[in-house]
Amino acid sequence: HADRAEAGWGGPPARPGDVSVATLTGPADAEPDVAVTLEAAAERITLPDGTVVEGYTIGGTTPGPLIEATQGDLVEVTLRNASVPDGVTLHWHGVDVPNAEDGVAGVTQEAVPVGGEHVYRFVAQDAGTYWYHSHQVSHRQVRLGLLGPLVVHPRATAAGADEAIALLHTYAGTRTINGTAGQQRHVVAPGTAARIRVINTDNAALRVWVAGAGFALLAVDGRDLTGATPVRDVAVVIGAGGRADLEITAPADGSAAVVRLGGGADLVVGPAGSRGPSGAAARDPGTELDLLGYGTPAALGFDPQAADRTFELAIGRRFGFVAGRPGLHWTINGHLFPDLPMFVVAEGDVVRMTISNSSGQAHPMHLHGHHVVVLSRDGVAATGGPWWTDSLEVRDGEEFEVAFVADNPGVWMDHCHNLPHAQQGLVAHLAYT
Ligand code: C2O
Ligand code: CU
Repeated sequence: HADRAEAGWGGPPARPGDVSVATLTGPADAEPDVAVTLEAAAERITLPDGTVVEGYTIGGTTPGPLIEATQGDLVEVTLRNASVPDGVTLHWHGVDVPNAEDGVAGVTQEAVPVGGEHVYRFVAQDAGTYWYHSHQVSHRQVRLGLLGPLVVHPRATAAGADEAIALLHTYAGTRTINGTAGQQRHVVAPGTAARIRVINTDNAALRVWVAGAGFALLAVDGRDLTGATPVRDVAVVIGAGGRADLEITAPADGSAAVVRLGGGADLVVGPAGSRGPSGAAARDPGTELDLLGYGTPAALGFDPQAADRTFELAIGRRFGFVAGRPGLHWTINGHLFPDLPMFVVAEGDVVRMTISNSSGQAHPMHLHGHHVVVLSRDGVAATGGPWWTDSLEVRDGEEFEVAFVADNPGVWMDHCHNLPHAQQGLVAHLAYT
């Protein structure tokens, strides 16, 4: 599989400055708090509808096992490739790891060949909901199974805090939650609150809503929202690769709340045997929760108006020959990877970036190694938040302004997480001098 956009590398970093290797790699010799070995294999997998296809497993299953850590833990994951012919890596989607641990084939490491292994080590600095996936031929390997959930718990979690994961993945047209099609149940007593960690591992945006109860949106992309107050009858849109943590209280009358992920993928939250609303009462409410106005503003820790660098990332569409390739192309500033100059920053820079899209299609943009805060959409400034994101759904015609502090040296991908688009060249890089 020629995977030029993801396996290739357009050139050396702009100017190797005084960034030391130590800042790019995880801790070398400490004892890990969490140690996991995951074997990747090319296998026949049975899809939810019973058909058998050539796919992949990680740690024996797809999705792979949940990796759980507590904030501050040193996590060590040994990846072995049993039989994936194209090679394999693991990328910790949304975890701002040191650059060398980022798992991007052709940028931060070579793909692990059959029979090989690679050890990742990083400190889980930020509590939140994340996932891992292969970053080699990822438009194929992710779709066919090389992925799994990762949760970093806060140091102090209230005893008895109840939670569940709802990892959405579509296998050959069938939507699944944690690998199972149809209705799943998370058993909680009436009146109990549960944190549901929704992870969108698909290439398209996910609309999630709750029938039979309100919910508070506690976190987006692994970052807590301040002042998350309960809302009702709105859908949350989670871009490809994104996550949303919903707090749902099971109704006191013993009925269930139903978290709906579309296509019959439901998570029923309530006592055993309980039922939630059905029919019209369970339908998509139509309105979307606007994250720009949700929550209470809180200090960012930096001044986004005092930017050291401002960049524009304009996504467009071109038909014809681009970089010698014919066809329809999604471009960034008129270019395709690897012909797009890197966005170059120095450590400590405050960076502002305008991301616009006039391509006729949505593009979920994922920046590795950093979270960005959304300042505005279409010129309308955020009044809530702060809305930190690592996977931002940018619809056709939209323009976002985001900001971040360049605090994680290395060479980082910034790409569309509709993974076939990335494979076709919708990939930029952020590089530190
Ligand atoms: Cu989840 Cu570069 O990817
Ligand atoms: Cu795209």
